[in-house]
Amino acid sequence: MSTGWSVFVIVITLGMLLGFTWLILNTRRIQDPNGANKLNDHEFDGITEYDAPMPEWFTWMFLGSIAFALIYLILYPGLGNFPGLLGWTSTGALEADQRRAEARFDPLFQRFLRTPAEELAENPQAIRMGERLFGNYCAQCHGSDARGFPGFPNLTDGHWSWGGTPEQIRMTLVNGRVAAMPAWGPVLGEDGIRDTTEFVISLAGREHDEEAAARGAEHYARNCVACHGPEGRGNQALGAGDLTTGVYLYGGSRETIAASLRDGRNGVMPAQSDLLDEARIHVLTAFVYGLPRRHGATERE
Ligand code: HEC
Ligand code: HEC
Repeated sequence: MSTGWSVFVIVITLGMLLGFTWLILNTRRIQDPNGANKLNDHEFDGITEYDAPMPEWFTWMFLGSIAFALIYLILYPGLGNFPGLLGWTSTGALEADQRRAEARFDPLFQRFLRTPAEELAENPQAIRMGERLFGNYCAQCHGSDARGFPGFPNLTDGHWSWGGTPEQIRMTLVNGRVAAMPAWGPVLGEDGIRDTTEFVISLAGREHDEEAAARGAEHYARNCVACHGPEGRGNQALGAGDLTTGVYLYGGSRETIAASLRDGRNGVMPAQSDLLDEARIHVLTAFVYGLPRRHGATERE
């Protein structure tokens, strides 16, 4: 906040408090010692009103809350840029909370770090912690149930673009992953895209147009084998998924596959090493590694 605004806020805040004090003291009248209250001089439809003063305790409550506000504004931030005598900040309070939580959980995380991921994936306490970390760091992209969205992989189905061993998952988390599928529209043209789409669909054993797929097979052999392999089984080093399973990252309709081919795809999994320490990445690795089994997916890599 600039100094000008700060002064503006301070003047308004203190001015209000002062104004309230003045209003209360000025309108305060003492109860008639004889206990006889005067009548107001207005009358409506035969109804009159006592001119009773405000009860004393009520006045003191007002003055008390004004005093409280002043003391609060001296101790805590609230008056423009003035930080308050206690030096309290919301980030400071958060950091202190986090330090307390870390100190509490650190021994546990250190013990988990010494346990192999395969074993940790069976540990209910580690699974709960993994779930919580997943909710904080991963769910916004992969969904809170880890089933993903188009373009954001489902981590529960046992299909892995980059590999499902603990070491492969750990590398995915630590360094992130950048997938590079080139755009084939300019190379193949619309007919070529249509034919190659038919061939990609045939790879998964789905119903297809034989003739178009045969033409597409030639495009595939020339342009795609290097990354997706001669049988379409993919390449985990490149993040090129298996095209024979019928499970797709971006979706399996003809239009979506044609769009993948025409414009290319560049999925990015952000690196987590700046956000999470080694122990937390280890717990998440075990959590993700165990997801397909816990969801009853058949063993696959
Ligand atoms: C340079 C390597 C490379 C080449 C060559 C390549 N791809 Fe890909 N392809 C990839 C990668 C990597 C991905 C994953 C993209 C992502 O995750 O964002 C991919 C994704 C795809 C997808 C989407 C799969 C899904 O799960 O949604 C299809 C379909 C596909 N490729 C087909 C082809 C076809 C057909 C060709 C040849 C015309 C081809 N690719 C050529 C690397 C390649
Ligand atoms: C900003 C979005 C985003 C966040 C946050 C994110 N991911 Fe990802 N993740 C992706 C995308 C996109 C891919 C797919 C990259 C590609 O195209 O291959 C991916 C891929 C993965 C893969 C590889 C899947 C495979 O098929 O091999 C794993 C494992 C994974 N993420 C786990 C996690 C975990 C655990 C977290 C939390 C620590 C996380 N991700 C956070 C977007 C995200």
